[in-house]
Amino acid sequence: MEMKSMTLLILYATQTGNALDVAERIAREAERRACTVVISSTDDYDANSLPAEDTVIFVVSTTGQGDTPDSMKVFWRFLLQRNLGSHWLEGIHYAVFGLGDSGYQKYNFVAKKLDKRLSDLGATAVVERGLGDDQHPSGYEAALDPWLSSLWSRLNEIKPHFFPKGPDFLVSNEELIGLPKVQVTYHNVNDMDSRLSTATDFKYLQMQIGRARSMSSGKVPHEKSKPDAFLKMVKNFPLTRASHEKDVRHFEFEFVSQVIKYEIGDVLEVLPSQSPAAVDSFIQRCNLDPESLITVHPREMENRHIDNNVNTLDVPIKLRTFVELTMDVTSASPRRYFFEARSCDELLCHC
Ligand SMILES: Cc1cc2nc3c(=O)[nH]c(=O)nc-3n(C[C@H](O)[C@H](O)[C@H](O)COP(=O)(O)O)c2cc1C
Repeated sequence: MEMKSMTLLILYATQTGNALDVAERIAREAERRACTVVISSTDDYDANSLPAEDTVIFVVSTTGQGDTPDSMKVFWRFLLQRNLGSHWLEGIHYAVFGLGDSGYQKYNFVAKKLDKRLSDLGATAVVERGLGDDQHPSGYEAALDPWLSSLWSRLNEIKPHFFPKGPDFLVSNEELIGLPKVQVTYHNVNDMDSRLSTATDFKYLQMQIGRARSMSSGKVPHEKSKPDAFLKMVKNFPLTRASHEKDVRHFEFEFVSQVIKYEIGDVLEVLPSQSPAAVDSFIQRCNLDPESLITVHPREMENRHIDNNVNTLDVPIKLRTFVELTMDVTSASPRRYFFEARSCDELLCHC
């Protein structure tokens, strides 16, 4: 008989990062209970391995008009294969938490479809699926909090082997939250990639963007980390009146690097730039040296992230470039985790 995995697997599919946040929160809560977890994006996981798992927690968002996130397309196509049959996932336990917005017609469509498909393939739900709604005044967390409580209590009942220290064991949140999620390594100036100095301006910028984004903890699919082309905006005027609630605009662009082909209906992903002054003051405020050379990696943990996209080349980039290209220093609104971490810092400072 095949050996079942004794780790709790968390699979997430995200378009804009919320599902990753939720997956990481579930992983933190599991670790607080001494439960070993592996967390992975659906595009880093081979769906063929599902029958060998014990229990899988899915955290999936819905995008477009009821569509799966890009990172889930291959995984979902695999699950839809007819030949998998109704016993394929027999003996496997699962739970689904969805992220969506009830303002859309196909509310949380992906979570609902996934839940049904897993059940049709023979898997057993640990708890009823949870559906997070952007429209709720407290956002998706309003549904997540009670869903997680029932998940842990039900898992304790039916899967006690995940909790070797017993159902009442709980590491304090402060102890775990104090641990950084990423590790920043500082390098010597001599480590700078000499190949870059010979590259053209656009090639250089393209490499820097690719490098910064592949080191960033925000998940960008590998093939999308480098921009395909650089454009110059030549026209920008409003199509709606100033009093209108939406600001709809007409833009025209010219290629300034190589020309790429596109068709009607293609989507243009724009990488916004930031105010250099804001970037400088952010770095200064954090008391960092903008000229230092860094590489950034997820913190090594006993039992965490499978990420096949980890940049193994490890070519350092300037701290300033990293901040400029991967962080939103002026307008990003902090998530709840930020405040949790800050409040723990405050507590530790006052102890
Ligand atoms: C372009 C776009 C399309 C969306 N389409 C849907 C949809 O069809 N159904 C739904 O329930 N939510 C929809 N949403 C809401 C997202 O699912 C929701 O914001 C979720 O928290 C995003 O999670 P993510 O950051 O993990 O991708 C959409 C959001 C955006 C930005």
